Amino acid sequence: MINHDVVVIGGGLAGMRAAVEAAERGADVAIVSKMHPVRSHSGAAQGGINAALGNREEDTPQNHAFDTAKGSDYLGDQDAIEAMCEDAPRQIIWLEHRGCIFSRLPDGRIAQRPFGGAGAPRTCYSADVTGLVILHTLWEQLERFNVKVYEEYFCTALCVEDGVGTGVVAYNMRNGELELINAKATIFATGGAGRMYAKTTNGYASTADGQAIAFRAGIPMMDMEFVQFHPTSLKENGVLLSEAARGEGAYLLNSAGERFMFKYAPNKGELASRDVVSRAEWTEILEGRGIDGCVLLDLRHLGREKILERLPQIRELALDATGKDAIDSPIPILPGMHYTMGGIETDIWGATRVPGVYAAGEVASPSVHGANRLGGNSLLETIVFGARSAKHACDYIKNVGSVKPSERTLKQEQDRIANWMGKSSGTRAPQLRAAMNKVMSDNVFIFRNEEQLQSAVDQLLEIRKQFDENVYVMDKSKTFNTDLVNTMETDYLIDSAMCVANGALARKESRGAQARTDYPERDDEKWMIHTLAWREQGKNPRLDYSRKVTITKWQPTVRTY
Ligand code: FUM
Repeated sequence: MINHDVVVIGGGLAGMRAAVEAAERGADVAIVSKMHPVRSHSGAAQGGINAALGNREEDTPQNHAFDTAKGSDYLGDQDAIEAMCEDAPRQIIWLEHRGCIFSRLPDGRIAQRPFGGAGAPRTCYSADVTGLVILHTLWEQLERFNVKVYEEYFCTALCVEDGVGTGVVAYNMRNGELELINAKATIFATGGAGRMYAKTTNGYASTADGQAIAFRAGIPMMDMEFVQFHPTSLKENGVLLSEAARGEGAYLLNSAGERFMFKYAPNKGELASRDVVSRAEWTEILEGRGIDGCVLLDLRHLGREKILERLPQIRELALDATGKDAIDSPIPILPGMHYTMGGIETDIWGATRVPGVYAAGEVASPSVHGANRLGGNSLLETIVFGARSAKHACDYIKNVGSVKPSERTLKQEQDRIANWMGKSSGTRAPQLRAAMNKVMSDNVFIFRNEEQLQSAVDQLLEIRKQFDENVYVMDKSKTFNTDLVNTMETDYLIDSAMCVANGALARKESRGAQARTDYPERDDEKWMIHTLAWREQGKNPRLDYSRKVTITKWQPTVRTY
């Protein structure tokens, strides 16, 4: 049995930031991660991290907060948004003091580029590999504090005893054993759920693990219907081409060579918020002004030097996938599933409703993004809420004596795995994952309607039943059993996909990333309210609308760009 004060599940940016904060505060902290931390999906974040540094006099954390609240289509909780934006400059300096190499202005200050929906250039960056650079900075800090990392441990369940979080059960992928990890506080930082769709900018590891594990332990998921489709992903493989390209001045063109974005966003053009740009692209494609199901991202006018200095990675990614060099050729792109705005419901400190259990980063919903996230606020969220959740957890554990080991949860997980391993026939998880991917991609995409969403809800419930009754693991081996891990990941993805589809069907309005063709208007009177989803074994989640949106300063107005 393993014991720590604080255990962080997930080794990406939110997880490492939480662990470093806890270590700096003197806690005995460990990370449990299914992969080596620097291989986390956070490393794929390209364009940058937002903070009103004051490089430009007119920008302030309050401007940042306003842009974020507006970008959220007024579903974001403004107390959480203000907390994040106020903390942003401090966190950038914290990173810089720990050696994070940001790109610079000629006078030495940290460079900032414009991003969509922002009133000023406030996205700090390291060329177009910002996530990777921060990931390595945090890894160095983990080493500095000798933080224990349980690598290739797959967390399977959260332990809750007498209403309090007491740690997790994790599957040691090297030897096939389940282990109980007791902790006074548990912080989930497992990232997103992009793999519920057939094509996504997300890495293969983004499989909703933390979301579904918390959900199963009785913690609600919030606002899951809001799924972000990034405007520029590669058709060939779904890989992201950063918004930094448009931030640096790239154009979006249709088949007539027209910069179509000004029809949809007269003031901001290509730098409108992501929901607006993705809808515009998809409209162009649906109305026959696309090229082979895509529109074009044109960087040619930026020139070779700027592309090589500021956007080297996306040039390479596009070249590898398409054979086209962005220096002299426009790149075909289309909107791709990128981010879940919703997640584990938390307060502004990352605390869930279960004492001792926290969530930070994409897995969580402290409600800073509402119905649509601004580019550059994701990296920021990981750093700010990683630190905040660890701070709260370190205060919380001061009053916790010891925790009761949850042998019950360990046994439950042993039985769950034994059931799959004990069967020699049935349905294999990849079949059900492919079915779920198709349901989500066909029916819960950029534009949605009742018929498609009802069909998604029905099909996903059938997939859930098939999984629960028939799934089996063919590979019976103990060492690095990827068949078993894939089965667990699929189990979790189905739960999250059901929350997305059910929330989208129930919400009869259009807001941010939820565009209902049958309810095209935003309805603040009825729907300026959060969706909470609670798990019901073998059934659709129960939805509840008891959590109101917190408004501090900005009343909803019509959102234009
Ligand atoms: O486009 C990008 O570089 C992605 C940034 C983000 O999702 O915040």
